[in-house]
Amino acid sequence: MWQNYCFPKTLPEALTLLAEHSEDTRIIAGGTDLILELERGVRHVPTLVDVTRIPGLDDIALDNGTVRLGPLVTHSQVVVSDLLVDRAFPLARACWQVGSPQIRNRGTIAGNLINASPAGDTITPLWALGASVILGSRQRGERELPFEEFCLGVRRTALQPDEMLVSIQFPALKANERGTFLKLGLRQAQAIAVVNVAVVLGFEDGRISRASMALGSVAPTIIRATDAEESLIGRPLTEYTMARAGELAAAAARPIDDIRGSADYRRAMVRVLTVRALRQLREGSERHGWPARPVTLKGISDQASVIRHAPRITFHASNAPIEFTVNGQPVSVCGANDKTLLRLLREDLGLTGTKEGCAEGECGACTVWLDGMAVQSCLVPAPRVHGCQVVTIEGLAGEGSLHPVQQAFIEEGAVQCGYCTPGMIMSAAGLLAEMPRPSREEIRQALTGNLCRCTGYCKVVRAIERAAVAS
Ligand SMILES: Cc1cc2nc3c(=O)[nH]c(=O)nc-3n(C[C@H](O)[C@H](O)[C@H](O)COP(=O)(O)OP(=O)(O)OC[C@H]3O[C@@H](n4cnc5c(N)ncnc54)[C@H](O)[C@@H]3O)c2cc1C
Ligand code: FES
Ligand code: FES
Repeated sequence: MWQNYCFPKTLPEALTLLAEHSEDTRIIAGGTDLILELERGVRHVPTLVDVTRIPGLDDIALDNGTVRLGPLVTHSQVVVSDLLVDRAFPLARACWQVGSPQIRNRGTIAGNLINASPAGDTITPLWALGASVILGSRQRGERELPFEEFCLGVRRTALQPDEMLVSIQFPALKANERGTFLKLGLRQAQAIAVVNVAVVLGFEDGRISRASMALGSVAPTIIRATDAEESLIGRPLTEYTMARAGELAAAAARPIDDIRGSADYRRAMVRVLTVRALRQLREGSERHGWPARPVTLKGISDQASVIRHAPRITFHASNAPIEFTVNGQPVSVCGANDKTLLRLLREDLGLTGTKEGCAEGECGACTVWLDGMAVQSCLVPAPRVHGCQVVTIEGLAGEGSLHPVQQAFIEEGAVQCGYCTPGMIMSAAGLLAEMPRPSREEIRQALTGNLCRCTGYCKVVRAIERAAVAS
């Protein structure tokens, strides 16, 4: 996997590490893309630079009409940010549709941009919002690139090996501007976009004064539908102008056939989603269905305090112990520096309640709490937990009594083979800690990162409802 794992405490320290070892080093943020690439052998990186202990990198700010996102801002943070829901709704809508709560808790917007998948859900709205990235290097200082110059192709960006993405910025939507994001996937959650579309419009006297449309999953990079944009300027949103813009957007797409959809289907769906987005903006209905309190499973831990109290380590050599608290007990583990947290828990601590289903962040069987937040332990590098608190299924029950969710799973018969159950219970208990009386929809949302292939979900949902009443 990797040999060295570094925790710089400042941005200059991180940039120095990149400058000194650039070809052998990569930044790791949430690890939801990078750990998969390393596990699959797609990438070989001897040194990982974990920037998650640099204070202030997860800031979200509005400065003179410009929104600035730090490189550690996660999808979950965007979803619960009143500022971003208000002034950057297309981005918030996109983040809400990324993966599952566990993926959104770890995955960052910056990582999504650098991964540069043509189906990356946050690239599309940021492009439509007119975003740019600030890249920092120790030798050359900072440079700002608009997305047109930053995104070069499938999984290719203009980021140089010694550079780090230090900020993302874009103009906040003004009072006369609105936007939205629509995604078509093969299922409701944990789905790669077959097509995604982001539209930002400005209105003046009932006519369109600004139109910005970006299309995802239909070309090697996200693309702008410029002919469609121009067709709207100076016109009202009528059935005719919307249909015409839909046709022009479909004509801009250059999709391929793949397992998720044919090129023809994708082109047709670009037209459908474009018209749907325009109609929503005309009717002012783009926020329908937006949750009043999005489920995050983020827990109640204060990340700033976690960072402050984390011990200083700049170089976690392969023989250095990983010291952390698991289920309330301090532990020190040697020789697990190049493993995932899942493997450390199972192989080194014998905590086999946490299961490996897919090892790809898809099934949720490996869900644990990291500093109070539900995460998929198969995607967390073990050294990341140095100085942190981890809770596994073994630590959920109290003295002599099961956790109410465990008890309710038994009473409702919500277990068949039981393989998914520890992960389900960790997510469910996390939900009840976050909202003691969740609605059925909120329960379903909390379980979108946990797959069960035998019990099914009805009994599981009933068990969580029962636990909510009991606790
Ligand atoms: C099960 C699953 C479901 C998913 N669902 C979706 C989905 O629905 N939609 C979607 O768009 N994505 C999805 N993803 C992809 C993923 O979660 C995102 O791309 C995520 O935002 C990446 O952020 P990260 O912090 O985890 O990046 P990491 O994995 O830490 O890093 C990704 C890349 O970016 C680099 N990097 C990260 N931060 C910086 C920085 N500041 N400067 C320089 N380089 C940096 C790393 O070196 C690495 O090359 C899914 C992933 C999984 C595993
Ligand atoms: S999500 Fe981690 S094992 Fe499936
Ligand atoms: S109980 Fe068997 S996978 Fe869920």
